[in-house]
Amino acid sequence: MKNHLPFFFWCIAFPFVIAEAVSSVANNEVSALLSIKASLIDPLDHLKDWKVSTYKGDVGAVHCNWTGVWCNSNGVVEKLDLSSRNLSGLVSDALQQLHSLTFLNLCCNGFSSPLPKSISKLTHLKSFDVSQNYFVGEFPSGLGRMEELTYINGSSNNFSGFLPKDLGNVTTLETLDFRGSFFEGPIPTSYKNLLNLKYLGLAGNNLTGYIPRELGQISSLETIILGYNGFKGGIPTEFGDLSNLQYLDLALGNLGGQIPVELGRLKKLNTIFLYQNSFEGKIPPELGNITSLVLLDLSDNQLSGEIPVELAELKSLQLLNLMRNNLTGQVPSGLGGLTQLEVLELWNNSLSGPLPVNLGQNSPLQWLDVSSNSLSGEIPAGLCNGGNLIKLILFNNVISGSIPLNLSRCESLVRVRMQNNLISGTVPPGFGKLAKLQRLELANNNLTGEIPHDISLSTSLSFIDFSQNRLHSALPSSIFSIPTLQNFLVSYNNLIGEISDQFQDCPSLAVLDLSTNSISGRIPASIVSCEKLVTLNLRNNNFTGEIPRAISMMSTLAILDLSNNSLTGALPESFGNSPALESLNVSYNKLEGQVPSNGILTTINPGDLIGNAGLCGGVLPPCSRSSGRTMSRERKLHINHVIAGWLVGISIILSIVIAVIGGRWCTRGGTQMAVVL
Ligand SMILES: *[C@@H]1O[C@H](CO)[C@@H](O)[C@H](O)[C@H]1NC(C)=O
Ligand SMILES: *[C@@H]1O[C@H](CO)[C@@H](O)[C@H](O)[C@H]1NC(C)=O
Ligand SMILES: *[C@@H]1O[C@H](CO)[C@@H](O)[C@H](O)[C@H]1NC(C)=O
Ligand SMILES: *[C@@H]1O[C@H](CO)[C@@H](O)[C@H](O)[C@H]1NC(C)=O
Ligand SMILES: *[C@@H]1O[C@H](CO)[C@@H](O)[C@H](O)[C@H]1NC(C)=O
Ligand SMILES: *[C@@H]1O[C@H](CO)[C@@H](O)[C@H](O)[C@H]1NC(C)=O
Ligand SMILES: *[C@@H]1O[C@H](CO)[C@@H](O)[C@H](O)[C@H]1NC(C)=O
Ligand SMILES: *[C@@H]1O[C@H](CO)[C@@H](O)[C@H](O)[C@H]1NC(C)=O
Ligand SMILES: *[C@@H]1O[C@H](CO)[C@@H](O)[C@H](O)[C@H]1NC(C)=O
Ligand SMILES: *[C@@H]1O[C@H](CO)[C@@H](O)[C@H](O)[C@H]1NC(C)=O
Ligand SMILES: *[C@@H]1O[C@H](CO)[C@@H](O)[C@H](O)[C@H]1NC(C)=O
Ligand SMILES: *[C@@H]1O[C@H](CO)[C@@H](O)[C@H](O)[C@H]1NC(C)=O
Repeated sequence: MKNHLPFFFWCIAFPFVIAEAVSSVANNEVSALLSIKASLIDPLDHLKDWKVSTYKGDVGAVHCNWTGVWCNSNGVVEKLDLSSRNLSGLVSDALQQLHSLTFLNLCCNGFSSPLPKSISKLTHLKSFDVSQNYFVGEFPSGLGRMEELTYINGSSNNFSGFLPKDLGNVTTLETLDFRGSFFEGPIPTSYKNLLNLKYLGLAGNNLTGYIPRELGQISSLETIILGYNGFKGGIPTEFGDLSNLQYLDLALGNLGGQIPVELGRLKKLNTIFLYQNSFEGKIPPELGNITSLVLLDLSDNQLSGEIPVELAELKSLQLLNLMRNNLTGQVPSGLGGLTQLEVLELWNNSLSGPLPVNLGQNSPLQWLDVSSNSLSGEIPAGLCNGGNLIKLILFNNVISGSIPLNLSRCESLVRVRMQNNLISGTVPPGFGKLAKLQRLELANNNLTGEIPHDISLSTSLSFIDFSQNRLHSALPSSIFSIPTLQNFLVSYNNLIGEISDQFQDCPSLAVLDLSTNSISGRIPASIVSCEKLVTLNLRNNNFTGEIPRAISMMSTLAILDLSNNSLTGALPESFGNSPALESLNVSYNKLEGQVPSNGILTTINPGDLIGNAGLCGGVLPPCSRSSGRTMSRERKLHINHVIAGWLVGISIILSIVIAVIGGRWCTRGGTQMAVVL
């Protein structure tokens, strides 16, 4: 008997038993799947093939073919992928009946329910993805019992409460992504046991407390993303032991203290993002040892001291962002030798000295922003040698010398902002031909010569600011016809000539400031073709002639300053009814006549009208008391009339007197009439 049992069992009974078992498992799984479906909301009917046909045959094979369902060779469900199917509703407890499930993906749906605790019964799970939903409540505990789990992605949800401590027992785990929920409290120290973990993403939660120094024991870690949380303390020095770390992102983590020098030991790091924290002290020179580093962003902290010259050893560096710190000293000249450098942002520090003379010469430099420092020296000539320069931002420094000629031939440029420096020489020709250039800001420098004529040819410039220089030329003809031009600012220069009829086509201009120059001639009436003009400032020039009536009818004009010119004639009555005008200044001209008493002119500050000897009435003293030219003529006329009337009166009285006396004389026969006359 004993000898026959194995034979019987293995050769006859077992296949039968297995088949029976499989079939009943299959039946269970079909009903599990159907009850999972029953609790889902599936607006696009993605799971329409999840149904049992009336034909009751080989059920096992049927559900293995359903959308998102995969079985193993025994016909048992091992994979369920319901990602990106607009599903919502509830995740049913029936899920736990899929005992052999190794892969579950519910990512990218609209679930806004809690996850069922029974998930933890799926002890064979290897991969669990519920990312990009609105799952609420705590993340279920119990996953700590899973022995094969390598991947958990719960990112982008509305989970709350504490991070599940027991996950620290899933030592097989390689990826743990809980970014972007509302988890609170500290990072569990138990996670130090995850000695196969490569990816730890907890950024964008509401985590607090210290970052556990024990995490430094997980030497398998390649990626750490913990920012956008409310931690206290700083970076554990033990992070210097994470010898496989490639990516460290602690941006906006509410961290402080010094950046540990130990990070310099991490020979595989390619990214360090520590921006928007409160790190202080010096940038460790040891960072220069991380030769694999590609992206280094320490911006928005309180780092002080000098930029370590050792950073010039980072030969793979593509991005170096140190802006908004308290850095002093010089920009290491070696940074000019970084052949991969694309982005260098050092703005809002207290750096001094010159920029590296060879900056950009041997690198694909795209963005250079060193504004608001105390940098001196000249603009490096080869900034655009790589042909990639897009943003060149140097404003608020004491940079001198002239603008390199070949900068104005740099086709890639979009923004040039160099205002508030000591740049001298002329504006080189060519900027108008750069097809992508949108901003050209050279205000408050020491530029001389003329505004290059090619600027008028631009089809891309929207903002031109040459104010506060010593430019001496006429405005290039048709400069206002640049189709994209919104702001043209050239105040405080020595510009001369007239602007007559330059406004034939002026599609985008919103702000025109020609103030404090020596521009003469009439204000062309064609300025009304600037239909979007909001601000027109012509003060302090030599404009003559009358104010074109049409200006007062411009539909968007809000600010008009014509003061300190030599304009003559009257103030057009229509100003009072100007559709958008908020501020009008015509003081110190040669205007005359009655100030109209309508609209804005009834509330205008008299100071905006003074200095025009001939203006009166309205908010100014009434015309009769004025001593203007027009008035005095009338007054003289009046006086003449008075005198004439007086003379006529006197004459009449005299005539009467004479007649009376004459009459008496005649009647008395006297001859005294000659004496009286
Ligand atoms: C699986 O579905 C395909 C079509 O979607 C069908 O051709 C095939 O016969 C089905 N197989 C089983 C075992 O039902
Ligand atoms: C389905 O989801 C996609 C992406 O989430 C969304 O753009 C689309 O509007 C959704 N469709 C319906 C009918 O809900
Ligand atoms: C999830 O969080 C977002 C952001 O706070 C909120 O707008 C949304 O209503 C939340 N959804 C659920 C289901 O809690
Ligand atoms: C987690 O899922 C999101 C979106 O669903 C994805 O973008 C992200 O790369 C995943 N995380 C990991 C570590 O694979
Ligand atoms: C982790 O496992 C150990 C034993 O293996 C157990 O004592 C402990 O309670 C587990 N931790 C958690 C948080 O479940
Ligand atoms: C984060 O936690 C703090 C206190 O722990 C709480 O005041 C705040 O409302 C939380 N913020 C969010 C978005 O949950
Ligand atoms: C790391 O950098 C420091 C300071 O720059 C230097 O003294 C040290 O020799 C470097 N260590 C290694 C291993 O390169
Ligand atoms: C950094 O500079 C800012 C402004 O220049 C100043 O207010 C702040 O006190 C400085 N911080 C430190 C730590 O020096
Ligand atoms: C940068 O510095 C300038 C000048 O000190 C200051 O006006 C500006 O607000 C600062 N910008 C930022 C974003 O801190
Ligand atoms: C720009 O000028 C500098 C110096 O004048 C020169 O080294 C560089 O090669 C020039 N670059 C180009 C693209 O002409
Ligand atoms: C401006 O340039 C002139 C020479 O063109 C020079 O004499 C003067 O010192 C410069 N001014 C400043 C403030 O640099
Ligand atoms: C501009 O007017 C002022 C004062 O009327 C005069 O001194 C100056 O010579 C004029 N300039 C030009 C260029 O006409």
